Amino acid sequence: MARGRWLSERRADPWVKRAKREGYPSRAAYKLKHIQELYSLIGLGDIVVELGAAPGGMLKAASEIVGEEGLVLGVDVKPIRCSGPNIRTLVLDIMSPTAPEAILRELEYVKCDVLISDASVNLTGVVEMDTLRQLELVLRCCEIADMVLKDGGNIMFKAFECPELQLIERPLRRHFKQFKRVITPPSLRKHSSEIFLIGLGRERAPIAPLLREALQ
Ligand SMILES: C[S@@+](CC[C@H](N)C(=O)[O-])C[C@H]1O[C@@H](n2cnc3c(N)ncnc32)[C@H](O)[C@@H]1O
Repeated sequence: MARGRWLSERRADPWVKRAKREGYPSRAAYKLKHIQELYSLIGLGDIVVELGAAPGGMLKAASEIVGEEGLVLGVDVKPIRCSGPNIRTLVLDIMSPTAPEAILRELEYVKCDVLISDASVNLTGVVEMDTLRQLELVLRCCEIADMVLKDGGNIMFKAFECPELQLIERPLRRHFKQFKRVITPPSLRKHSSEIFLIGLGRERAPIAPLLREALQ
């Protein structure tokens, strides 16, 4: 999309205006709130890790849900503009081989209850390329989940709709007590194929090798 059109759509976006009014760093806060209302993804006192957390809309919403006894850790290649007594942040490329260890170190080696990813690739406009690169991010998030998410934990990963996504959904479904795919109201922008994959109550790990196998 041309930058001028993107900017004018953004200025007119009611979710952007609402986020500004209510003090969230981004409109993504309402995507998490919507999914939380539907599925109670996050519990009071939980440890939550968010991959791709800058500027911090979802992180702030998650910090409100976990409360004072909980902890949220936001990870991004960019600095995250969000702070609070139960918020930690980490500047890190999740594709780097040492990312899972860096996350665990930050959590003092306590695994998390919920792993969220709102990480997105920079869009080139070439749809096939963008969806496949986003799929690679989803696979990386599954590898990280295999290492940092506790048994019985929940996930919420952003993906773009594509035929390959359906290939990995079947093995994903088998690893969680409940599996859902959700399009949130703020995702319903023109030109968007964004969906969130939700897994509740992981029953088995590792997941990532099976997903890679499903794609071969
Ligand atoms: C849509 S934004 C996230 C918005 C955020 N969840 C919020 O609530 O404000 C996508 C983010 O993914 C991050 N990202 C993309 N690839 C990444 C990677 N390899 N490692 C870490 N962060 C990444 C980008 O830097 C960007 O900040």
